[in-house]
Amino acid sequence: MAKQRKVFVCGACGHQVGQWTGRCPGCNEWGTITERPATRTWPVGAPVASSLETLGGPDASIERRVGTGLSSVDRVLGGGIVPASVALLAGEPGIGKSTLLLQIVSALSTAGFPCLLASGEESRDQVAARARRLGIDGDAVSFTQGRDLRPLLEAARSTRPSLLAVDSIQTLRDADAGQMPGGTSQVRACTDALVGLAKQEGIAVLLTGHVTKDGDLAGPRTLEHAVDVVLTFEGEPRSGLRMLTGGKNRFGTEGEAAWFEMTGEGLREIDPAALLAPGSHEPGCAVALPRLGRRALAVEVQALVAPTEGSVRRQASGLDARRFQLVAAVLERAGVSLSRADLFGATAGGVRVDDPACDLAIAAALASAATDLATPAGAAFVGEVSLTGLVRPVAGMEQRIAAALAVGIDTIYAPVESRANGPRVVPVHHLRDALAWARGGQRERRIGAVASAGKGL
Ligand code: TYD
Ligand code: MG
Repeated sequence: MAKQRKVFVCGACGHQVGQWTGRCPGCNEWGTITERPATRTWPVGAPVASSLETLGGPDASIERRVGTGLSSVDRVLGGGIVPASVALLAGEPGIGKSTLLLQIVSALSTAGFPCLLASGEESRDQVAARARRLGIDGDAVSFTQGRDLRPLLEAARSTRPSLLAVDSIQTLRDADAGQMPGGTSQVRACTDALVGLAKQEGIAVLLTGHVTKDGDLAGPRTLEHAVDVVLTFEGEPRSGLRMLTGGKNRFGTEGEAAWFEMTGEGLREIDPAALLAPGSHEPGCAVALPRLGRRALAVEVQALVAPTEGSVRRQASGLDARRFQLVAAVLERAGVSLSRADLFGATAGGVRVDDPACDLAIAAALASAATDLATPAGAAFVGEVSLTGLVRPVAGMEQRIAAALAVGIDTIYAPVESRANGPRVVPVHHLRDALAWARGGQRERRIGAVASAGKGL
């Protein structure tokens, strides 16, 4: 019997060496090298040589792209899922990867492209409960556990779905690769096997992968090199807004973005243009530039100030209710009388934003509603308002300015120095600086005595 060849593999980084050594030359870790059989045992057919068939015109598989049922996802992908391609959906835990995966799988299955959903994160019952919540017909989706690589590959080979969805690559385990699931060599081995499956069987594969807070994929970016497409899903988990961006893409342009809102019934596609209502210059409206991951977008904040004799109400939808009340209180102190009125705040399209940088836009919308004076045309407001009325700088000004430019905003009130290019920045240090346009508003009774004494607006 032929002697089985051995290799020595680092348990930390997956580096292979021909003989045992105390220190891994790949990652310099000590004591991580162990002996393994050289042959991988997942079933690989003997390689068959065939011609490249280059006379067939453009890449036929790209032309056979399949729509996901979510038009903005298709746009980010470059037109849909390419057969035999491997895509990675990366994002922080809790951002909505499993939800998006299930929505895609459901849409494809319903459209006649059978999908196999393999979850190592959730049980069949948990996935079924999520499907019910999303109004998805569970019978249309095939499910298998996604913890062990071998049975998963066998299931995919025997059922031959159009798409194999794996949630997540970090919970998948190859018994041959040693180490715990999620470790570098496991992630590498499982990804390699799935890429092999995709290319040999023509099955598209969509993997989810967790990233850490600083954006690293667990398993040092090994995955990104191995897959064809990397999609990044981002957003503030507390807010409803989500953004999907295309990074590496072998079959489309990089840098496309799609916007979503996480609702009680799953992810809803958002048209960014709908976040700026056409009546943006009506009194009571102000444009905010909340940030989402690596980008920002322009969102209209709306306020209504309704005088009342009874007990007052403060109601915010789409905005952080606590911040809305706080900004109203600070505004009152700065001279805008709001105390005898019901206050309502909202965002265009009801999209949830709670970036503290929206404080200044909330203040501007409230001051505009109280004075019946529209905010300056083409202006946006950025800054966090402190209890004393000082406006604090916020991170991500570059992204916010880019978002403003994209929708034709030419003036930004913000606590930063003016810049040479892009929209004009009106530097503001205190709420008063940002609300000069509201001075002398028609409704004298709402602009308090402080304002006329020169201390307020
Ligand atoms: P999930 O898809 O599980 O995120 P990930 O797979 O990236 O960890 O969803 C995360 C959050 O989304 C979860 O806290 C609950 C919330 N959610 C909704 O708000 N609406 C929904 O319809 C669903 C399914 C989830
Ligand atoms: Mg998940």
